[in-house]
Amino acid sequence: MSGPYELAERAARELCARSGVDHFDVAVVLGSGWREGAVALGEPSRVVATRDLSGFATPTVPGHDGAILSLEVGGRRVALVAGRVHLYEGYDAAHVVHPVRTVLAAGARVVVLTNAAGGIDPALTPGSVVVVRDHLNLTGTSPLEGEAPPASYAARFVDLTDLYSARLRTLAHEVVPTLGEGVYAGLRGPHYETPAEIEALRRSGADLVGMSTVLEAIAARHLGAEVLALSLVSNPAAGVAAAPLDHREVLATGQQAAHSLGDVLARLVPRL
Ligand code: HPA
Repeated sequence: MSGPYELAERAARELCARSGVDHFDVAVVLGSGWREGAVALGEPSRVVATRDLSGFATPTVPGHDGAILSLEVGGRRVALVAGRVHLYEGYDAAHVVHPVRTVLAAGARVVVLTNAAGGIDPALTPGSVVVVRDHLNLTGTSPLEGEAPPASYAARFVDLTDLYSARLRTLAHEVVPTLGEGVYAGLRGPHYETPAEIEALRRSGADLVGMSTVLEAIAARHLGAEVLALSLVSNPAAGVAAAPLDHREVLATGQQAAHSLGDVLARLVPRL
């Protein structure tokens, strides 16, 4: 019992026990800004610190301790995952996807991955929310790298043709008609991109750029979950607007957008 899948199964048993439930139906991974918005979903019945669960890495982003909040929304048991970890913190792909593997091992069949992203398409203005249609994984790694999954799991050569569920994307547009849609390029960071890199990404078909989501989406798809990803556009990507990028502005956009992110989640999650 030492591989990443067994570790996630163990963490899932601990999570269910500490949350007082026998399973979860839906998982929402909260990115920058989205954690503040998620209060719109209601009061969690339990909050489990991820330091009490097997295999969880400690987030190094200040003020964002890892926790999994449990609550019932529209008759579904929802796990809100706060405090994701990133490659740029020095963690490997297995650590980055461990929270997603855990909530899926706890029964969730639908995963919503949220993030803050730079807008490459100039029409994607800060504060807008975009449904991810597809991604470019430019992290140079995969959560499926390394030892093959145990025999009870799908083979690692997973098809990503339909990675971001068409059903969930349609549903998202139905419940929040103002949402945009675009292709997300996932990079390692933590530096922002150069204007030349953003121009290359634009020509490659990317509309958004960020430092998360792609590995979690791959791991979730491998485990057979339906995946929806939502990006808050926190800034125009490098070179798209005249101003230089400032991490504080990226965070501030998240704070300002908390109300509208909460509105998106409150409309969407009961329908998942
Ligand atoms: N680039 C990469 N990641 C990001 C950005 C960006 O402009 N904004 C928020 N996350």
